[in-house]
Amino acid sequence: MIKATEKIWHNGKFIAWNDAKIHVLAHVTSYGSSVFEGIRCYATASGPAIFRGTEHMRRLLDSGRIYRMTIPYSVNELVAAMHELVRVNKLESCYVRPLVFRGYGDLGVLPTKDTPLETYMACWEWGKYLGAEAMEEGVDVCVSSWTRLAPNTLPTLSKAGANYMNSQLIRMEAAANGYSEGIALDASGYVCEGSGENVFVVRDGKILTPPIGSSVLPGITRDTVIQLAKDMGITVTETLIPREMLYIADEVFFSGTAAEISPIRSVDRIPVGAGKRGPITEKLQREFFALVEGKSPDPHGWLAPVAQPVTTR
Ligand SMILES: Cc1ncc(COP(=O)(O)O)c(C=O)c1O
Repeated sequence: MIKATEKIWHNGKFIAWNDAKIHVLAHVTSYGSSVFEGIRCYATASGPAIFRGTEHMRRLLDSGRIYRMTIPYSVNELVAAMHELVRVNKLESCYVRPLVFRGYGDLGVLPTKDTPLETYMACWEWGKYLGAEAMEEGVDVCVSSWTRLAPNTLPTLSKAGANYMNSQLIRMEAAANGYSEGIALDASGYVCEGSGENVFVVRDGKILTPPIGSSVLPGITRDTVIQLAKDMGITVTETLIPREMLYIADEVFFSGTAAEISPIRSVDRIPVGAGKRGPITEKLQREFFALVEGKSPDPHGWLAPVAQPVTTR
């Protein structure tokens, strides 16, 4: 169950959690017309800090632009609102969900001037997405029988709510068959991504990941992994990956805001490498968590401390 907080940000104002309601006939409920983000705020020794908030808000505006949704806030305004939101809800660490959708008014498929665009932002406490144990042990996944979105159908550079109908099929099928997650192939049969994570493969000390053209979401954590690996002197190649590479890889892992960096220990019941977390995955996890928890330097300026309230006397 989601743990309610005090306030939700709506179109520039804070409202009570329970007042963040929409009409059943809002455009979004029939037609899936929403774009959103998922951002983590980590607890650090100097208070809560938001990880790559600017990049997430930029992607939110990009997601909207693709769907001709003109979100009336700048990246900086959204980032400032997010910091304020975490602060007013007095959370040490949390997940932040900005959400933009076509609201209640006209109800044809074609949005009109009478179909308002609503911008919300909520945050709440959230733990590990694939379970705390999974971080060390790794997860068992399958290749999904569902194909990820084909180019020229639903645009995957947009993190749109409608894309997650496909994600639900992947995730539900995996769960029904006893797997933690599914990896979907793209419309050409190459490795694409998990229902809510990007995928990386390690073979002979080199890292591979599907390119943006393989219908993946351009993950912020994906970008983080690519940069961290570079900083560690490990090559990351964005290339088409045949399905069978998952079976002969030394290591496979997921990246995502929710999943962070999660090792995969088997694919379709075939053990990945030695069937446990591999050394490159572990090294990347160590670097990642040291950075997001504020325990190591942040050379890329990814972690932004949530500003403390100015106290007036
Ligand atoms: C389908 C999909 N792919 C990849 C990701 C990872 O993206 P990010 O690292 O920006 O959270 C997500 C998570 O938002 C996702 O939903």
